[in-house]
Amino acid sequence: MTHTHPVFAVENLKFWYQLGNQRIEALRGITVDIPKSKVVCLSGPSGSGKTSFLSVLGLIEPVHDGSVTFENHDLSKIPENKKNTLRRYHIGFVFQQFHLLPVLSATENVEYFLNRQGVQRDERKKIAKESLEAVGLWEHRNKKPLEMSGGQRQRVAIARAIAKSPSVIIADEPTASLDQNTGREIMHIFHGLVKERGVSVIVASHDPMVHSFSDKHYFMEDGLITNLDGGSSC
Ligand SMILES: Nc1ncnc2c1ncn2[C@@H]1O[C@H](COP(=O)(O)OP(=O)(O)OP(=O)(O)O)[C@@H](O)[C@H]1O
Ligand SMILES: [Mg+2]
Repeated sequence: MTHTHPVFAVENLKFWYQLGNQRIEALRGITVDIPKSKVVCLSGPSGSGKTSFLSVLGLIEPVHDGSVTFENHDLSKIPENKKNTLRRYHIGFVFQQFHLLPVLSATENVEYFLNRQGVQRDERKKIAKESLEAVGLWEHRNKKPLEMSGGQRQRVAIARAIAKSPSVIIADEPTASLDQNTGREIMHIFHGLVKERGVSVIVASHDPMVHSFSDKHYFMEDGLITNLDGGSSC
């Protein structure tokens, strides 16, 4: 039992996509407290709402109804520029397809984002080195994405995410393009970030290997979380 505040307190969250006259209800009333400094997994069938839920938690999509509190910020009450700041400085994203810039080397990919955040050159170099070392990629720092394996590319994406010292990392199917062993290495890195830095990691995945790393596991069905307790813990 934990007495710390959750990283996200979600109450009756609803979210939909509007396509012309048609409203597609993607999240239909989710209530959950997502614990801090844990690996939390979301699973569930295709179309059940995992990506939509991560997009709302990542402040990419809005709260249409209900409420989401992120570390004491009520997301429906804060202005757009504050949301942008939270997303930019406090939330790291990792996707299935890595989303790296192909013309830049590993270290430049990490630095590029820091540059956009206005971090000065020396500090940028230092943070990029620390982040690439944390994922075991410093020796490959000068390689471009096409010169790296899938696992190495995903590690660059994780280095880029951790370079901003986020309190939360949101990862959508981060191992789906990788073989099992490489995927396991990625999950080890996430697990280490939780244990050593207290980061909260929220992962959507179909992969039982990923679930085996979770402290908490939520199952989604048709826009709802249908099991609040049935999580594995490790
Ligand atoms: N951009 C969009 N426009 C309209 N409807 C969408 C959009 N993205 C998702 N949806 C719909 O919202 C619902 C939830 O989709 P979502 O992508 O969140 O599911 P998911 O659990 O991530 O699925 P998968 O496992 O395939 O990634 C589905 O009915 C889907 O068709
Ligand atoms: Mg998805």
